[in-house]
Amino acid sequence: MYTFPKDFIWGAATSGPQSEGNFKKRHQNVFDYWYTKDPSAFYAGVGPDTTSNFYNDYENDLKLMHQAGIKALRTSIQWSRLIADFETCEVDQKGADFYSRVIDAMLANGITPYINLCHFDMPVELQHKYGGFESKHVTDLFAGFAKKCFELYGDRVDHWFTFNEPKVILDGGYLYQFHYPLKVDGPLAVQVAYNLNLASAKAIKAFRELYGQDKSKKIGTILNLTPAYPASDSPKDQAAAEFAELWANKMFLEPAVLGHYPQKLVEILERDGVLWEQTPAELQLLKEQTVDVLGVNFYHPFRVKAPAVSSASLQPWMPDIYFDEYEMPGRVMNVDKGWEIYPKALYDIAVNIRDNYNNIEWFVSENGMGVSSEERFMDKNGMVCDDYRIEFMKKHLKALHRGIKAGSNCHGYFVWTGIDCWSWKNAYRNRYGLIRDDIHTQIKTLKKSGHWFHELSNKNSFE
Ligand code: BG6
Repeated sequence: MYTFPKDFIWGAATSGPQSEGNFKKRHQNVFDYWYTKDPSAFYAGVGPDTTSNFYNDYENDLKLMHQAGIKALRTSIQWSRLIADFETCEVDQKGADFYSRVIDAMLANGITPYINLCHFDMPVELQHKYGGFESKHVTDLFAGFAKKCFELYGDRVDHWFTFNEPKVILDGGYLYQFHYPLKVDGPLAVQVAYNLNLASAKAIKAFRELYGQDKSKKIGTILNLTPAYPASDSPKDQAAAEFAELWANKMFLEPAVLGHYPQKLVEILERDGVLWEQTPAELQLLKEQTVDVLGVNFYHPFRVKAPAVSSASLQPWMPDIYFDEYEMPGRVMNVDKGWEIYPKALYDIAVNIRDNYNNIEWFVSENGMGVSSEERFMDKNGMVCDDYRIEFMKKHLKALHRGIKAGSNCHGYFVWTGIDCWSWKNAYRNRYGLIRDDIHTQIKTLKKSGHWFHELSNKNSFE
């Protein structure tokens, strides 16, 4: 029997752009725009117009989530829905009323709102005018938007997050071309990374100016931590893993929790002539505005080996000059998604946070299994019998439980996701939900995992 600490939170995560549909939205975000330009870039040509219809269906959706035992929901407020004028932060009243109704409905269903402010969804107007987070001006605009959210909903929302997976903004938009603006520019990615940390600190400052020492309100950020494991004990593989860890994890984790960048990373980037532009005042702000709580999205480890080709082959600068990804023979895979399944990494994360990050309060803000064509697993009543998802969660929860027993300060587990949702370029290819969404009818029904999660959340334990 695995029993979790008293008050452990059993939740689910989603985001505004992936669940709402862009009904009545004032502006486009980068994905809305990209889809209008190139629908073929999205799996089966399915775009963000309807997604899971949460905009119209939120009352029913929240009731279903309650039935699946979801006691907290992380979603995000879309900058492109809430704000009418990005420079002045004038609000779009329809957008503001929508989020207000959603928050009330969450509370009415016994679901605690965890509200995030950016889930990859830069308004396209700011991307085109300023380059999005390439620009420091946009970090100020983001803080203004964040402040507006706190003012509008802070009376009912205690848990706030500045970003979801800032690293994916670099990976997708500036390195590997799976998000708009589809650039390949290593040095620019470095600057965007810095500006994202800066934007987060500015939003946290706005939060603290409003709430001061009020400990009932907390702000954090959500990072996708992918522990870097070397392919072997050889010094070259070890060096590759050391850089991968700095780049993939510490570049965001250290400023967020400790208030500074890893010295080693700064030295490498400086030596390579690609260090971000920084000012002493900005570094001071980062130092002062660390997070209260950390959300960790975990799906897969990051196995690396020494690069096969000389760094001279990759010009201009890319972080990949320091590592190649390593496909470990015999690894366990989620073959639909193409991600290795390695639950022990969650234990390693727990212990790392305990030992190197002041044992800060944290929670698993995403973990889950994406599987395609789930109709394959339907029983005669039409219920998806997703035993593979239950097994996946159990294995990860066992590793997490071990980390908590070892003293790590983890207070919750949020599955990705409650209801099947739209996933950017992958659209509806892989389904992650505890609740199935038939996207042709928008009829939503609990999967076997939804029933299992209900029991888990109510017992606070599983066998
Ligand atoms: C997470 C993101 O990293 O992965 C989500 O925060 C995303 O937004 C999820 O939907 C799953 O991604 P995919 O591409 O497998 O559907």
